[in-house]
Amino acid sequence: MRVLASAPAKIILFGEHSVVYGKPAIAAAINLRTYVRAEFNDSGRIKIEAHDIKTPGLIVSFSENEIYFESDYGKAAEVLSYVRQAIELVQEEADKNGRGITVSITSQIPVGAGLGSSAAVAVATIGAVSKLLGLELTNEEIGKLGHRVELLVQGASSGIDPTVSAIGGIIHYEKGKFEHLPFMELPIVVGYTGSSGSTKELVAMVRRTYEEMPEIVEPILTSMGKVVEKARETLLSELEEGQKLARLGRLMNINHGLLDALGVSTKKLSELVYAARTAGALGAKITGAGGGGCMYALAPERQSEVATAITIAGGTPMITEISREGLRIE
Ligand code: PMV
Repeated sequence: MRVLASAPAKIILFGEHSVVYGKPAIAAAINLRTYVRAEFNDSGRIKIEAHDIKTPGLIVSFSENEIYFESDYGKAAEVLSYVRQAIELVQEEADKNGRGITVSITSQIPVGAGLGSSAAVAVATIGAVSKLLGLELTNEEIGKLGHRVELLVQGASSGIDPTVSAIGGIIHYEKGKFEHLPFMELPIVVGYTGSSGSTKELVAMVRRTYEEMPEIVEPILTSMGKVVEKARETLLSELEEGQKLARLGRLMNINHGLLDALGVSTKKLSELVYAARTAGALGAKITGAGGGGCMYALAPERQSEVATAITIAGGTPMITEISREGLRIE
């Protein structure tokens, strides 16, 4: 028996950084997926094969205390620790320790770009392995287990990435509570700068600025929270689609300006943001922690023009849409 599962990447539509201070955020699953195939093997060991994970190619296998890398790549090692934790967690739940499992991973999601590749691989692994072991888990439960994996590997996590990857669509998140917002087609272009920022360092940098000048940073964070609430209201409103998209675009631009004020943009990110707007996007902003990573643009009927503009500005564009589906068994 073998099981193939897949889970999507995510973008934070609004509210990164301010969410760390208890404000709301909105995230969405997008149509880039990680695929995980799970099957039993006779070795009694966990074997992980990772191909094409948008990091130099490698094949890895490890048992409990040993890790064998065909090549030693940091980013890949990071991804694998999510996979191992995910498998171990499911084995605990299934109480079927000892049976060898081979997991093969392929992914369309760039690693370390702020698109939730770690959460997607954790969720897809939990989905595939739990099915293989005969566990009946809902996608929401798998999202929660994905959050536990993130906590085990990273030490801290809001849980927004594994949740949206597991349940799909658009979610509003506030203080640990998630709600699905009505699904809407959002014609998106993601622009990858080609470098990755460290979420941990950027969050710490914002914290230092906050502590040094709270009277300035607090109102910025409050405004970000208000941008998120306005975006939520817009998504829930009866406005016609064109008006909704135009409003969301304006809110994205405001959110980007506020993120820039916090110091998390870079020259490259700003160049991609302005290139996208000049090419006709309704709005463009950083997505995720910043300091590199990705931006995204909302570009109805202008996706290919915006993608070209991002390429010319030195970024890697990915034309994508919101994914209604989260985790799915293929
Ligand atoms: O870079 P990402 O996609 O992991 O997003 C980080 C989002 C932050 O708000 C900056 C941090 C957090 O824990 O919410």
